[in-house]
Amino acid sequence: MKALVLSGGKGTRLRPLTYTMAKQLVPIANQPILGYVMGHLSQAGIEEVGVIVAPETQREVREYLKDGKKWQFKITYILQEQPLGLAHAVKIAQPFLGSSPFVMYLGDNLLGSGICDAIDHFRAEPADALVFLKHVPDPTAFGVAELDERGGIKRLIEKPKDPPSDLALVGVYLFTPRIHQAISCIKPSWRGELEITDAIQALIEMRASVRGEILKGWWLDTGKKDDFLAANTVVLDEYTKRDIQGEVDSKSHVEGRVYICRGAKVIRSEVRGPVIIGPEAEIVDSFIGPFSSIGKGSRISNSVIEHIVILEQAVVDGVGRIEDSLIGRHARVTKGQRHTEALRLMIGDHSQVEI
Ligand code: DAU
Repeated sequence: MKALVLSGGKGTRLRPLTYTMAKQLVPIANQPILGYVMGHLSQAGIEEVGVIVAPETQREVREYLKDGKKWQFKITYILQEQPLGLAHAVKIAQPFLGSSPFVMYLGDNLLGSGICDAIDHFRAEPADALVFLKHVPDPTAFGVAELDERGGIKRLIEKPKDPPSDLALVGVYLFTPRIHQAISCIKPSWRGELEITDAIQALIEMRASVRGEILKGWWLDTGKKDDFLAANTVVLDEYTKRDIQGEVDSKSHVEGRVYICRGAKVIRSEVRGPVIIGPEAEIVDSFIGPFSSIGKGSRISNSVIEHIVILEQAVVDGVGRIEDSLIGRHARVTKGQRHTEALRLMIGDHSQVEI
């Protein structure tokens, strides 16, 4: 079995971060989302992985994944000139996929349980498509499945205004090569994309076997800031172990599951886990509360922060309390020198500031 990872697209919902980085590389608990995806494919014993990349972000995706050796598989990069849809990505990957069955994994999705069970089910009970479903509070943001009386999939609709159920399609799909035939039958949707939901619907109409299973573990689509922070919280909660490799001075107090990487320093501060502090980061005269990830080389001083993701080389100084926030690379959040209530901002396009 081969794998196809979708790491193209535009990432509009995570702007401004995604003006300068691929959304699949935004880190969760200091590891890019793609790292988790690749880890799951490696655990499942996949040996050949095709990665769909976009012209704007392919360089950094290639720099991170390289040839795939780190995960014991071989990567073939497939350039998608424009984000014309998930089924379009499969279409251009056809020369790579050939006649092999494959798992398609959306590069911005995270699954708590990995994909070994999914592949076992696909092998044990073959189908032309095996999709995973999850009950969600707002199905209008996803592909949605309508089931028949026996629990089989009757219909799939992409981002319906009036959803027939609360069962969203998870971003992991297993296909036989029949999906290529189905894709050749579909037309672009109202949003101009070749939708994978329409291709699976075409399979249903071709009377191919399409199975849906409710996913047991957690699943996170990291599309928007709040989903992203929720994903960071779940991953920190699940995986962080206490491991203090950096320096903690005698005036600091580190409580619970806190991972302090080598080269990081904690000075006159309190850290309460689960928290991860990246290499060469510095925490000075501050409180770092639960569910915070501090990126490599960032510096937090004279501040209280909690439930936050701070990427690499950012500075937070003297700003009182910040929570539920996402701070990009090299960003600076600091207290002004003058005694005035006025805020002085330099905010990029699509930034959000809540005061
Ligand atoms: O997250 C699950 C949802 O993913 C499903 O419920 C939907 O049925 C499915 O269409 C998809 O919806 P999204 O709107 O969230 O897809 P998005 O545009 O965010 O793209 C998903 C991933 O695929 C993302 O990593 C970018 C990549 N991509 C996307 C497009 C449109 C590509 O590589 N090429 C593309 O043309």
